[in-house]
Amino acid sequence: MSQGPRSGLAAVSAALLAMSRHLEVRDVLKTIVASARDLLDAQYAALGVPDDHGGFAQFVVDGVSDAQWKAIGPLPRQHGVLAAMLHEAKAERLADVRKDPRFEGWPDAHPDLVDFLGLPIRDGDEVIGALFLANKLRPDGGHRPDAPCPRQDGSCGFTEEDQELLAILAQHAAIALTNARLYERSRELTIAEERSRLAHELHDAVSQKLFSLRLTAQAATALVDRDPARAKGELHQVAALAAEAADELRAAVVELRPAALDEDGLIATLRTQTQVLDRAHTARVTFTSNGFRALPAVQEEALLRVAQEALHNALRHSGAEHVDVSVERRGCGAVLRVTDDGDGFDPKAVRRAGRHLGLVSMRDRASGAGGALSVESAPGKGTTIEMEVPGG
Ligand SMILES: Nc1ncnc2c1ncn2[C@@H]1O[C@H](COP(=O)(O)OP(=O)(O)OP(=O)(O)O)[C@@H](O)[C@H]1O
Ligand SMILES: [Mg+2]
Repeated sequence: MSQGPRSGLAAVSAALLAMSRHLEVRDVLKTIVASARDLLDAQYAALGVPDDHGGFAQFVVDGVSDAQWKAIGPLPRQHGVLAAMLHEAKAERLADVRKDPRFEGWPDAHPDLVDFLGLPIRDGDEVIGALFLANKLRPDGGHRPDAPCPRQDGSCGFTEEDQELLAILAQHAAIALTNARLYERSRELTIAEERSRLAHELHDAVSQKLFSLRLTAQAATALVDRDPARAKGELHQVAALAAEAADELRAAVVELRPAALDEDGLIATLRTQTQVLDRAHTARVTFTSNGFRALPAVQEEALLRVAQEALHNALRHSGAEHVDVSVERRGCGAVLRVTDDGDGFDPKAVRRAGRHLGLVSMRDRASGAGGALSVESAPGKGTTIEMEVPGG
């Protein structure tokens, strides 16, 4: 096999090409181990990635049959020469691993290893694995698995040159492992972002609808005896709100924009929603618009969501008698204003984290649409939420 540098180079190149075709880290590691064994004429090759509990998170071998692997039993622990390679981060080239003072024996079915070449796999200063070979095969005998090279002089069958070649493969194993870690990390981040998007979406859309639904149901209950006809009307409203909540939920999950926006446009949607709220609450809820022109979809959707949350907050927290929503044109864009004459609050005192998602979510929405949000409020002074978007 590796007779001279030319074939060595070709084999390394083949190994690297094979690696670049694999995406799964385990496949890459298998390729590295098989290439190392093949390239360096070893009877056995293995690669271990340690875990934090003295064992191995991954352990890949080549040269051992499935039956043999089963018979050996559980994965090795980090001990003996293996542990030394991981903890001291240095190469080991041994003529007979069994005679090394650190040798602690192996399980019954474990193959007998004689000469040994092992290298740590590093990512910067950190050792993230070990790549090792055992039993250099006879140069003439090729791959007779039962014929490790017996050396009369007791020298190691693995050479300095073998070590250099193995170092190249160890470096590539490091890259493969690091990439796999980065990939895993970025996947986790994407999932976390997706979760938070969904949480905001659900918060904005569905929790408000459910809140209105509860109020309308309460109103219906209060009216049942006194005015059954109106109670019936309120119950129809309950059914309509429940249907809308279900739609919003579906839309949030598949990331569709609110259906009403497409059908009726922002102004009509806001007008209808404020009318519903006006009926459901004791506070007066009004809506005005001035010179508004259609905007890019993301901006309209953001305006709607912010209006909904601001309205919801005003009705839930402020005790206002009057809440007004207005939308007017400014330049190419628009300004939304939600004003209440309620208790007001200190915006700086609201913790950003924790259970209060509304204000955070409004800011996200505004900046996500290229706009800006301002919150003007003080205890006893009512609240005005203003959002401006630039238009298209
Ligand atoms: N219009 C308002 N009038 C009075 N207080 C308000 C008003 N808007 C917000 N607040 C106060 O600011 C806090 C934070 O509002 P935010 O919308 O971030 O969270 P929340 O409404 O408490 O919970 P969530 O919106 O996550 O269901 C509220 O708990 C409330 O005390
Ligand atoms: Mg809120």
